[in-house]
Amino acid sequence: MADLTTNFLGITSPNPFWLASAPPTDKEYNVRRAFEAGWGGVVWKTLGSEGPPVVNVNGPRYGAIYGADRRLLGLNNIELITDRPLQTNLEEITRVKRDYPDRALIVSIMVPCEEEAWKAILPMVEATGADGIELNFGCPHGMAERGMGSAVGQVPEYITMVTEWCKQYYSKPVIVKLTPNITDIRKPAQAAFKGNADAVSLINTINSITSVNLDLMAPEPTIDGKGTHGGYCGPAVKPIALNMVAEIARDAETRGKPISAIGGITTWRDAAEFMVMGAGNVQVCTAAMTYGFKVVQEMISGLSQWMDDKGYAATSDFIGAGVPNVTDWQYLNLNYITKARIDQDACIKCGRCYAACEDTSHQAISMSPDRVFEVQDDECVACNLCVDVCPVENCITMVELQPGEMDKRTGKPVPSEYANWTTHPNNPAAQAAE
Ligand SMILES: Cc1cc2nc3c(=O)[nH]c(=O)nc-3n(C[C@H](O)[C@H](O)[C@H](O)COP(=O)(O)O)c2cc1C
Ligand code: SF4
Ligand code: SF4
Repeated sequence: MADLTTNFLGITSPNPFWLASAPPTDKEYNVRRAFEAGWGGVVWKTLGSEGPPVVNVNGPRYGAIYGADRRLLGLNNIELITDRPLQTNLEEITRVKRDYPDRALIVSIMVPCEEEAWKAILPMVEATGADGIELNFGCPHGMAERGMGSAVGQVPEYITMVTEWCKQYYSKPVIVKLTPNITDIRKPAQAAFKGNADAVSLINTINSITSVNLDLMAPEPTIDGKGTHGGYCGPAVKPIALNMVAEIARDAETRGKPISAIGGITTWRDAAEFMVMGAGNVQVCTAAMTYGFKVVQEMISGLSQWMDDKGYAATSDFIGAGVPNVTDWQYLNLNYITKARIDQDACIKCGRCYAACEDTSHQAISMSPDRVFEVQDDECVACNLCVDVCPVENCITMVELQPGEMDKRTGKPVPSEYANWTTHPNNPAAQAAE
């Protein structure tokens, strides 16, 4: 039986599934129930400075994007950091950590970008006995306008500066949570490690307007006729997060540094993918908000089953295993040639592959009068579009041509050697180098 125990920055948890800082971790009642349901750790809902807490809107604070079956694909929120008093949160954190010593408990913090503000809150957080802190440099709405959240995360120098303060005034691990609302995610990650961060976590939410109410003529969620941009998360953001995690994992400056991955993680497979791309553990928000805390049980059993099937005894056996396989486009093998193949027994004759290839790809699928669809190898460029639009899983597959086999499209046999764009005769840079 696979061992899911995870050691992230010296903080052990029974499994790599942590709840991200958000409503699921806003209070003791939630966190205790989350731990009882099996979550390995939590990042407590972001705390602000002592004094009157922030005030949330009293109208709707979420907007959503649905799939055709009304499954929630994307969630947008305009919620702020915790709106409960600092002392209440600190007391609850202390009690929960005392009662669940085997679970990871990280405290998320967002205070003004002033040394005194961090110096004031960090000893209070340290006194709770929590395992570490996460610096919220990510929220793109509400707090950013007050000079916090993503307003800090978008300026690498600020990230380094605040991280250094935290390392100075706090003794346990410091995780820097990054905003995806930036052009090159490697820059803030480098800045965090320059400030001696122990890890980065990403992504926080993506700035968005999910929909517009066409009766009210205003963005949703609509508050008394007005709307504002919010933070987007859920399954729809996973591809963006996955790329950003991989970018940091393979960057020369940050390669091998600890990463806690966040963004659309809904199943064990999502988690495994992020870990293979270099994440030491994962954090989840929207999936818990959509399906409840017990969703972690399927994640645990699924990951465990997969690890058993693959012969992985521990999560460290596969963390980062895929990072060397992420490369830049110019290094892809141009002599790797595939063709689409349609399984006629599985085909339901819907014609989607035909429409897609005929109208928007390479006119490589023929349709007979009795609706038999066949791939014409002399036209197929192997783009994969037919596979992507076919409603029947595995009905169309891409089959690799072996070296020496004739590629009917080019009229040439498939070369056996690897060759990429850097040396291709059509590449002006390659010619210049000769
Ligand atoms: C309603 C809501 C409130 C959130 N509040 C916080 C917060 O206080 N601090 C924080 O760092 N991230 C916050 N987040 C962002 C999440 O922690 C997480 O980074 C993001 O939702 C992506 O993960 P997901 O796709 O699993 O939801 C919030 C997200 C949601 C949906
Ligand atoms: S892989 Fe692309 S080009 Fe080939 S049949 Fe499918 S859609 Fe057409
Ligand atoms: S999209 Fe798939 S199921 Fe539909 S006709 Fe093409 S191969 Fe058959």
